[in-house]
Amino acid sequence: MESILKAIKEASIEIKQLIETGDTGKSTNQNSTGDTQLKLDIASDEIIESYFKKLTNVKSIVSEEQENIIDINENGTYLIAYDPLDGSSLVDVNLSVGSIYGIYKNDFNGQNIVASVYVVFGPRVELVYCDGKTVKMYRLQNGSFNYIQDIKLQEKGKLQAPGSTQQCWYPYHKAMIDGFFNDGYRLRYSGGMVPDLHQILLKGGGLFSYPSTSDLPKGKLRQLFEVFPFALTYKCAGGQAVNGFSDVLNIQTTHIHDTSPCFFGSNYEINKVLEVYKNNG
Ligand code: F6P
Repeated sequence: MESILKAIKEASIEIKQLIETGDTGKSTNQNSTGDTQLKLDIASDEIIESYFKKLTNVKSIVSEEQENIIDINENGTYLIAYDPLDGSSLVDVNLSVGSIYGIYKNDFNGQNIVASVYVVFGPRVELVYCDGKTVKMYRLQNGSFNYIQDIKLQEKGKLQAPGSTQQCWYPYHKAMIDGFFNDGYRLRYSGGMVPDLHQILLKGGGLFSYPSTSDLPKGKLRQLFEVFPFALTYKCAGGQAVNGFSDVLNIQTTHIHDTSPCFFGSNYEINKVLEVYKNNG
């Protein structure tokens, strides 16, 4: 695992340079869900792939930006699913973006995720590593990632990040979100899941939601690249991650680009979600 972390750190330093100086324009390619890829998405993907291809313990990799799994070493132990530059369309307005990595064993499935990493590219570059037990944050300082702190959620937070198009929310979902605001929760939503989830983790807790909606019944966020890595991190930080009804890591992935509704948060908020969805969903 050490070699994977080292590769992610080195790739992140290159991606930071790319974000600072790269072209934020569109490419002529589309990804598997038909989104036009930005040149930054493609370039970040190439950087990460080149580092992972050098590792003997990696069996295969799959990127959100690619259609298929790439096999690397038949005898490797780890399978890595990654989103090279989540929220990349926010770079041209100079908001924070991030990379997400889910590290799996045996197959790409929620039950088999063993570690996760995300990297936030903001005013500072921070890397959060979850080894399946603890959650540790590192910060890029003078060219190296230094340990800063362990991350632990409180039982109840004060922030909420409600994703997706409100027009398409189901009434019970809207009532739940309104309920949190009526209880004093403050809105914190940038449109980049990495900085939005990072903020909730570091400020003690709250709720990030990306529900099933009338336009996207299976949500938008992808299981392998986005949902499962953050689910592991939130669970190990003392919170929960659910699809509305149960632990999101128990979902069966049938295709590498499957999406799922998802809710990440501290215990109080997630228990409320489970209660609301049990009665309505
Ligand atoms: O992965 C896509 C993404 O950009 C996430 O980073 C973010 O949380 C989400 O989409 C925002 O979607 P929406 O604009 O529908 O709330």
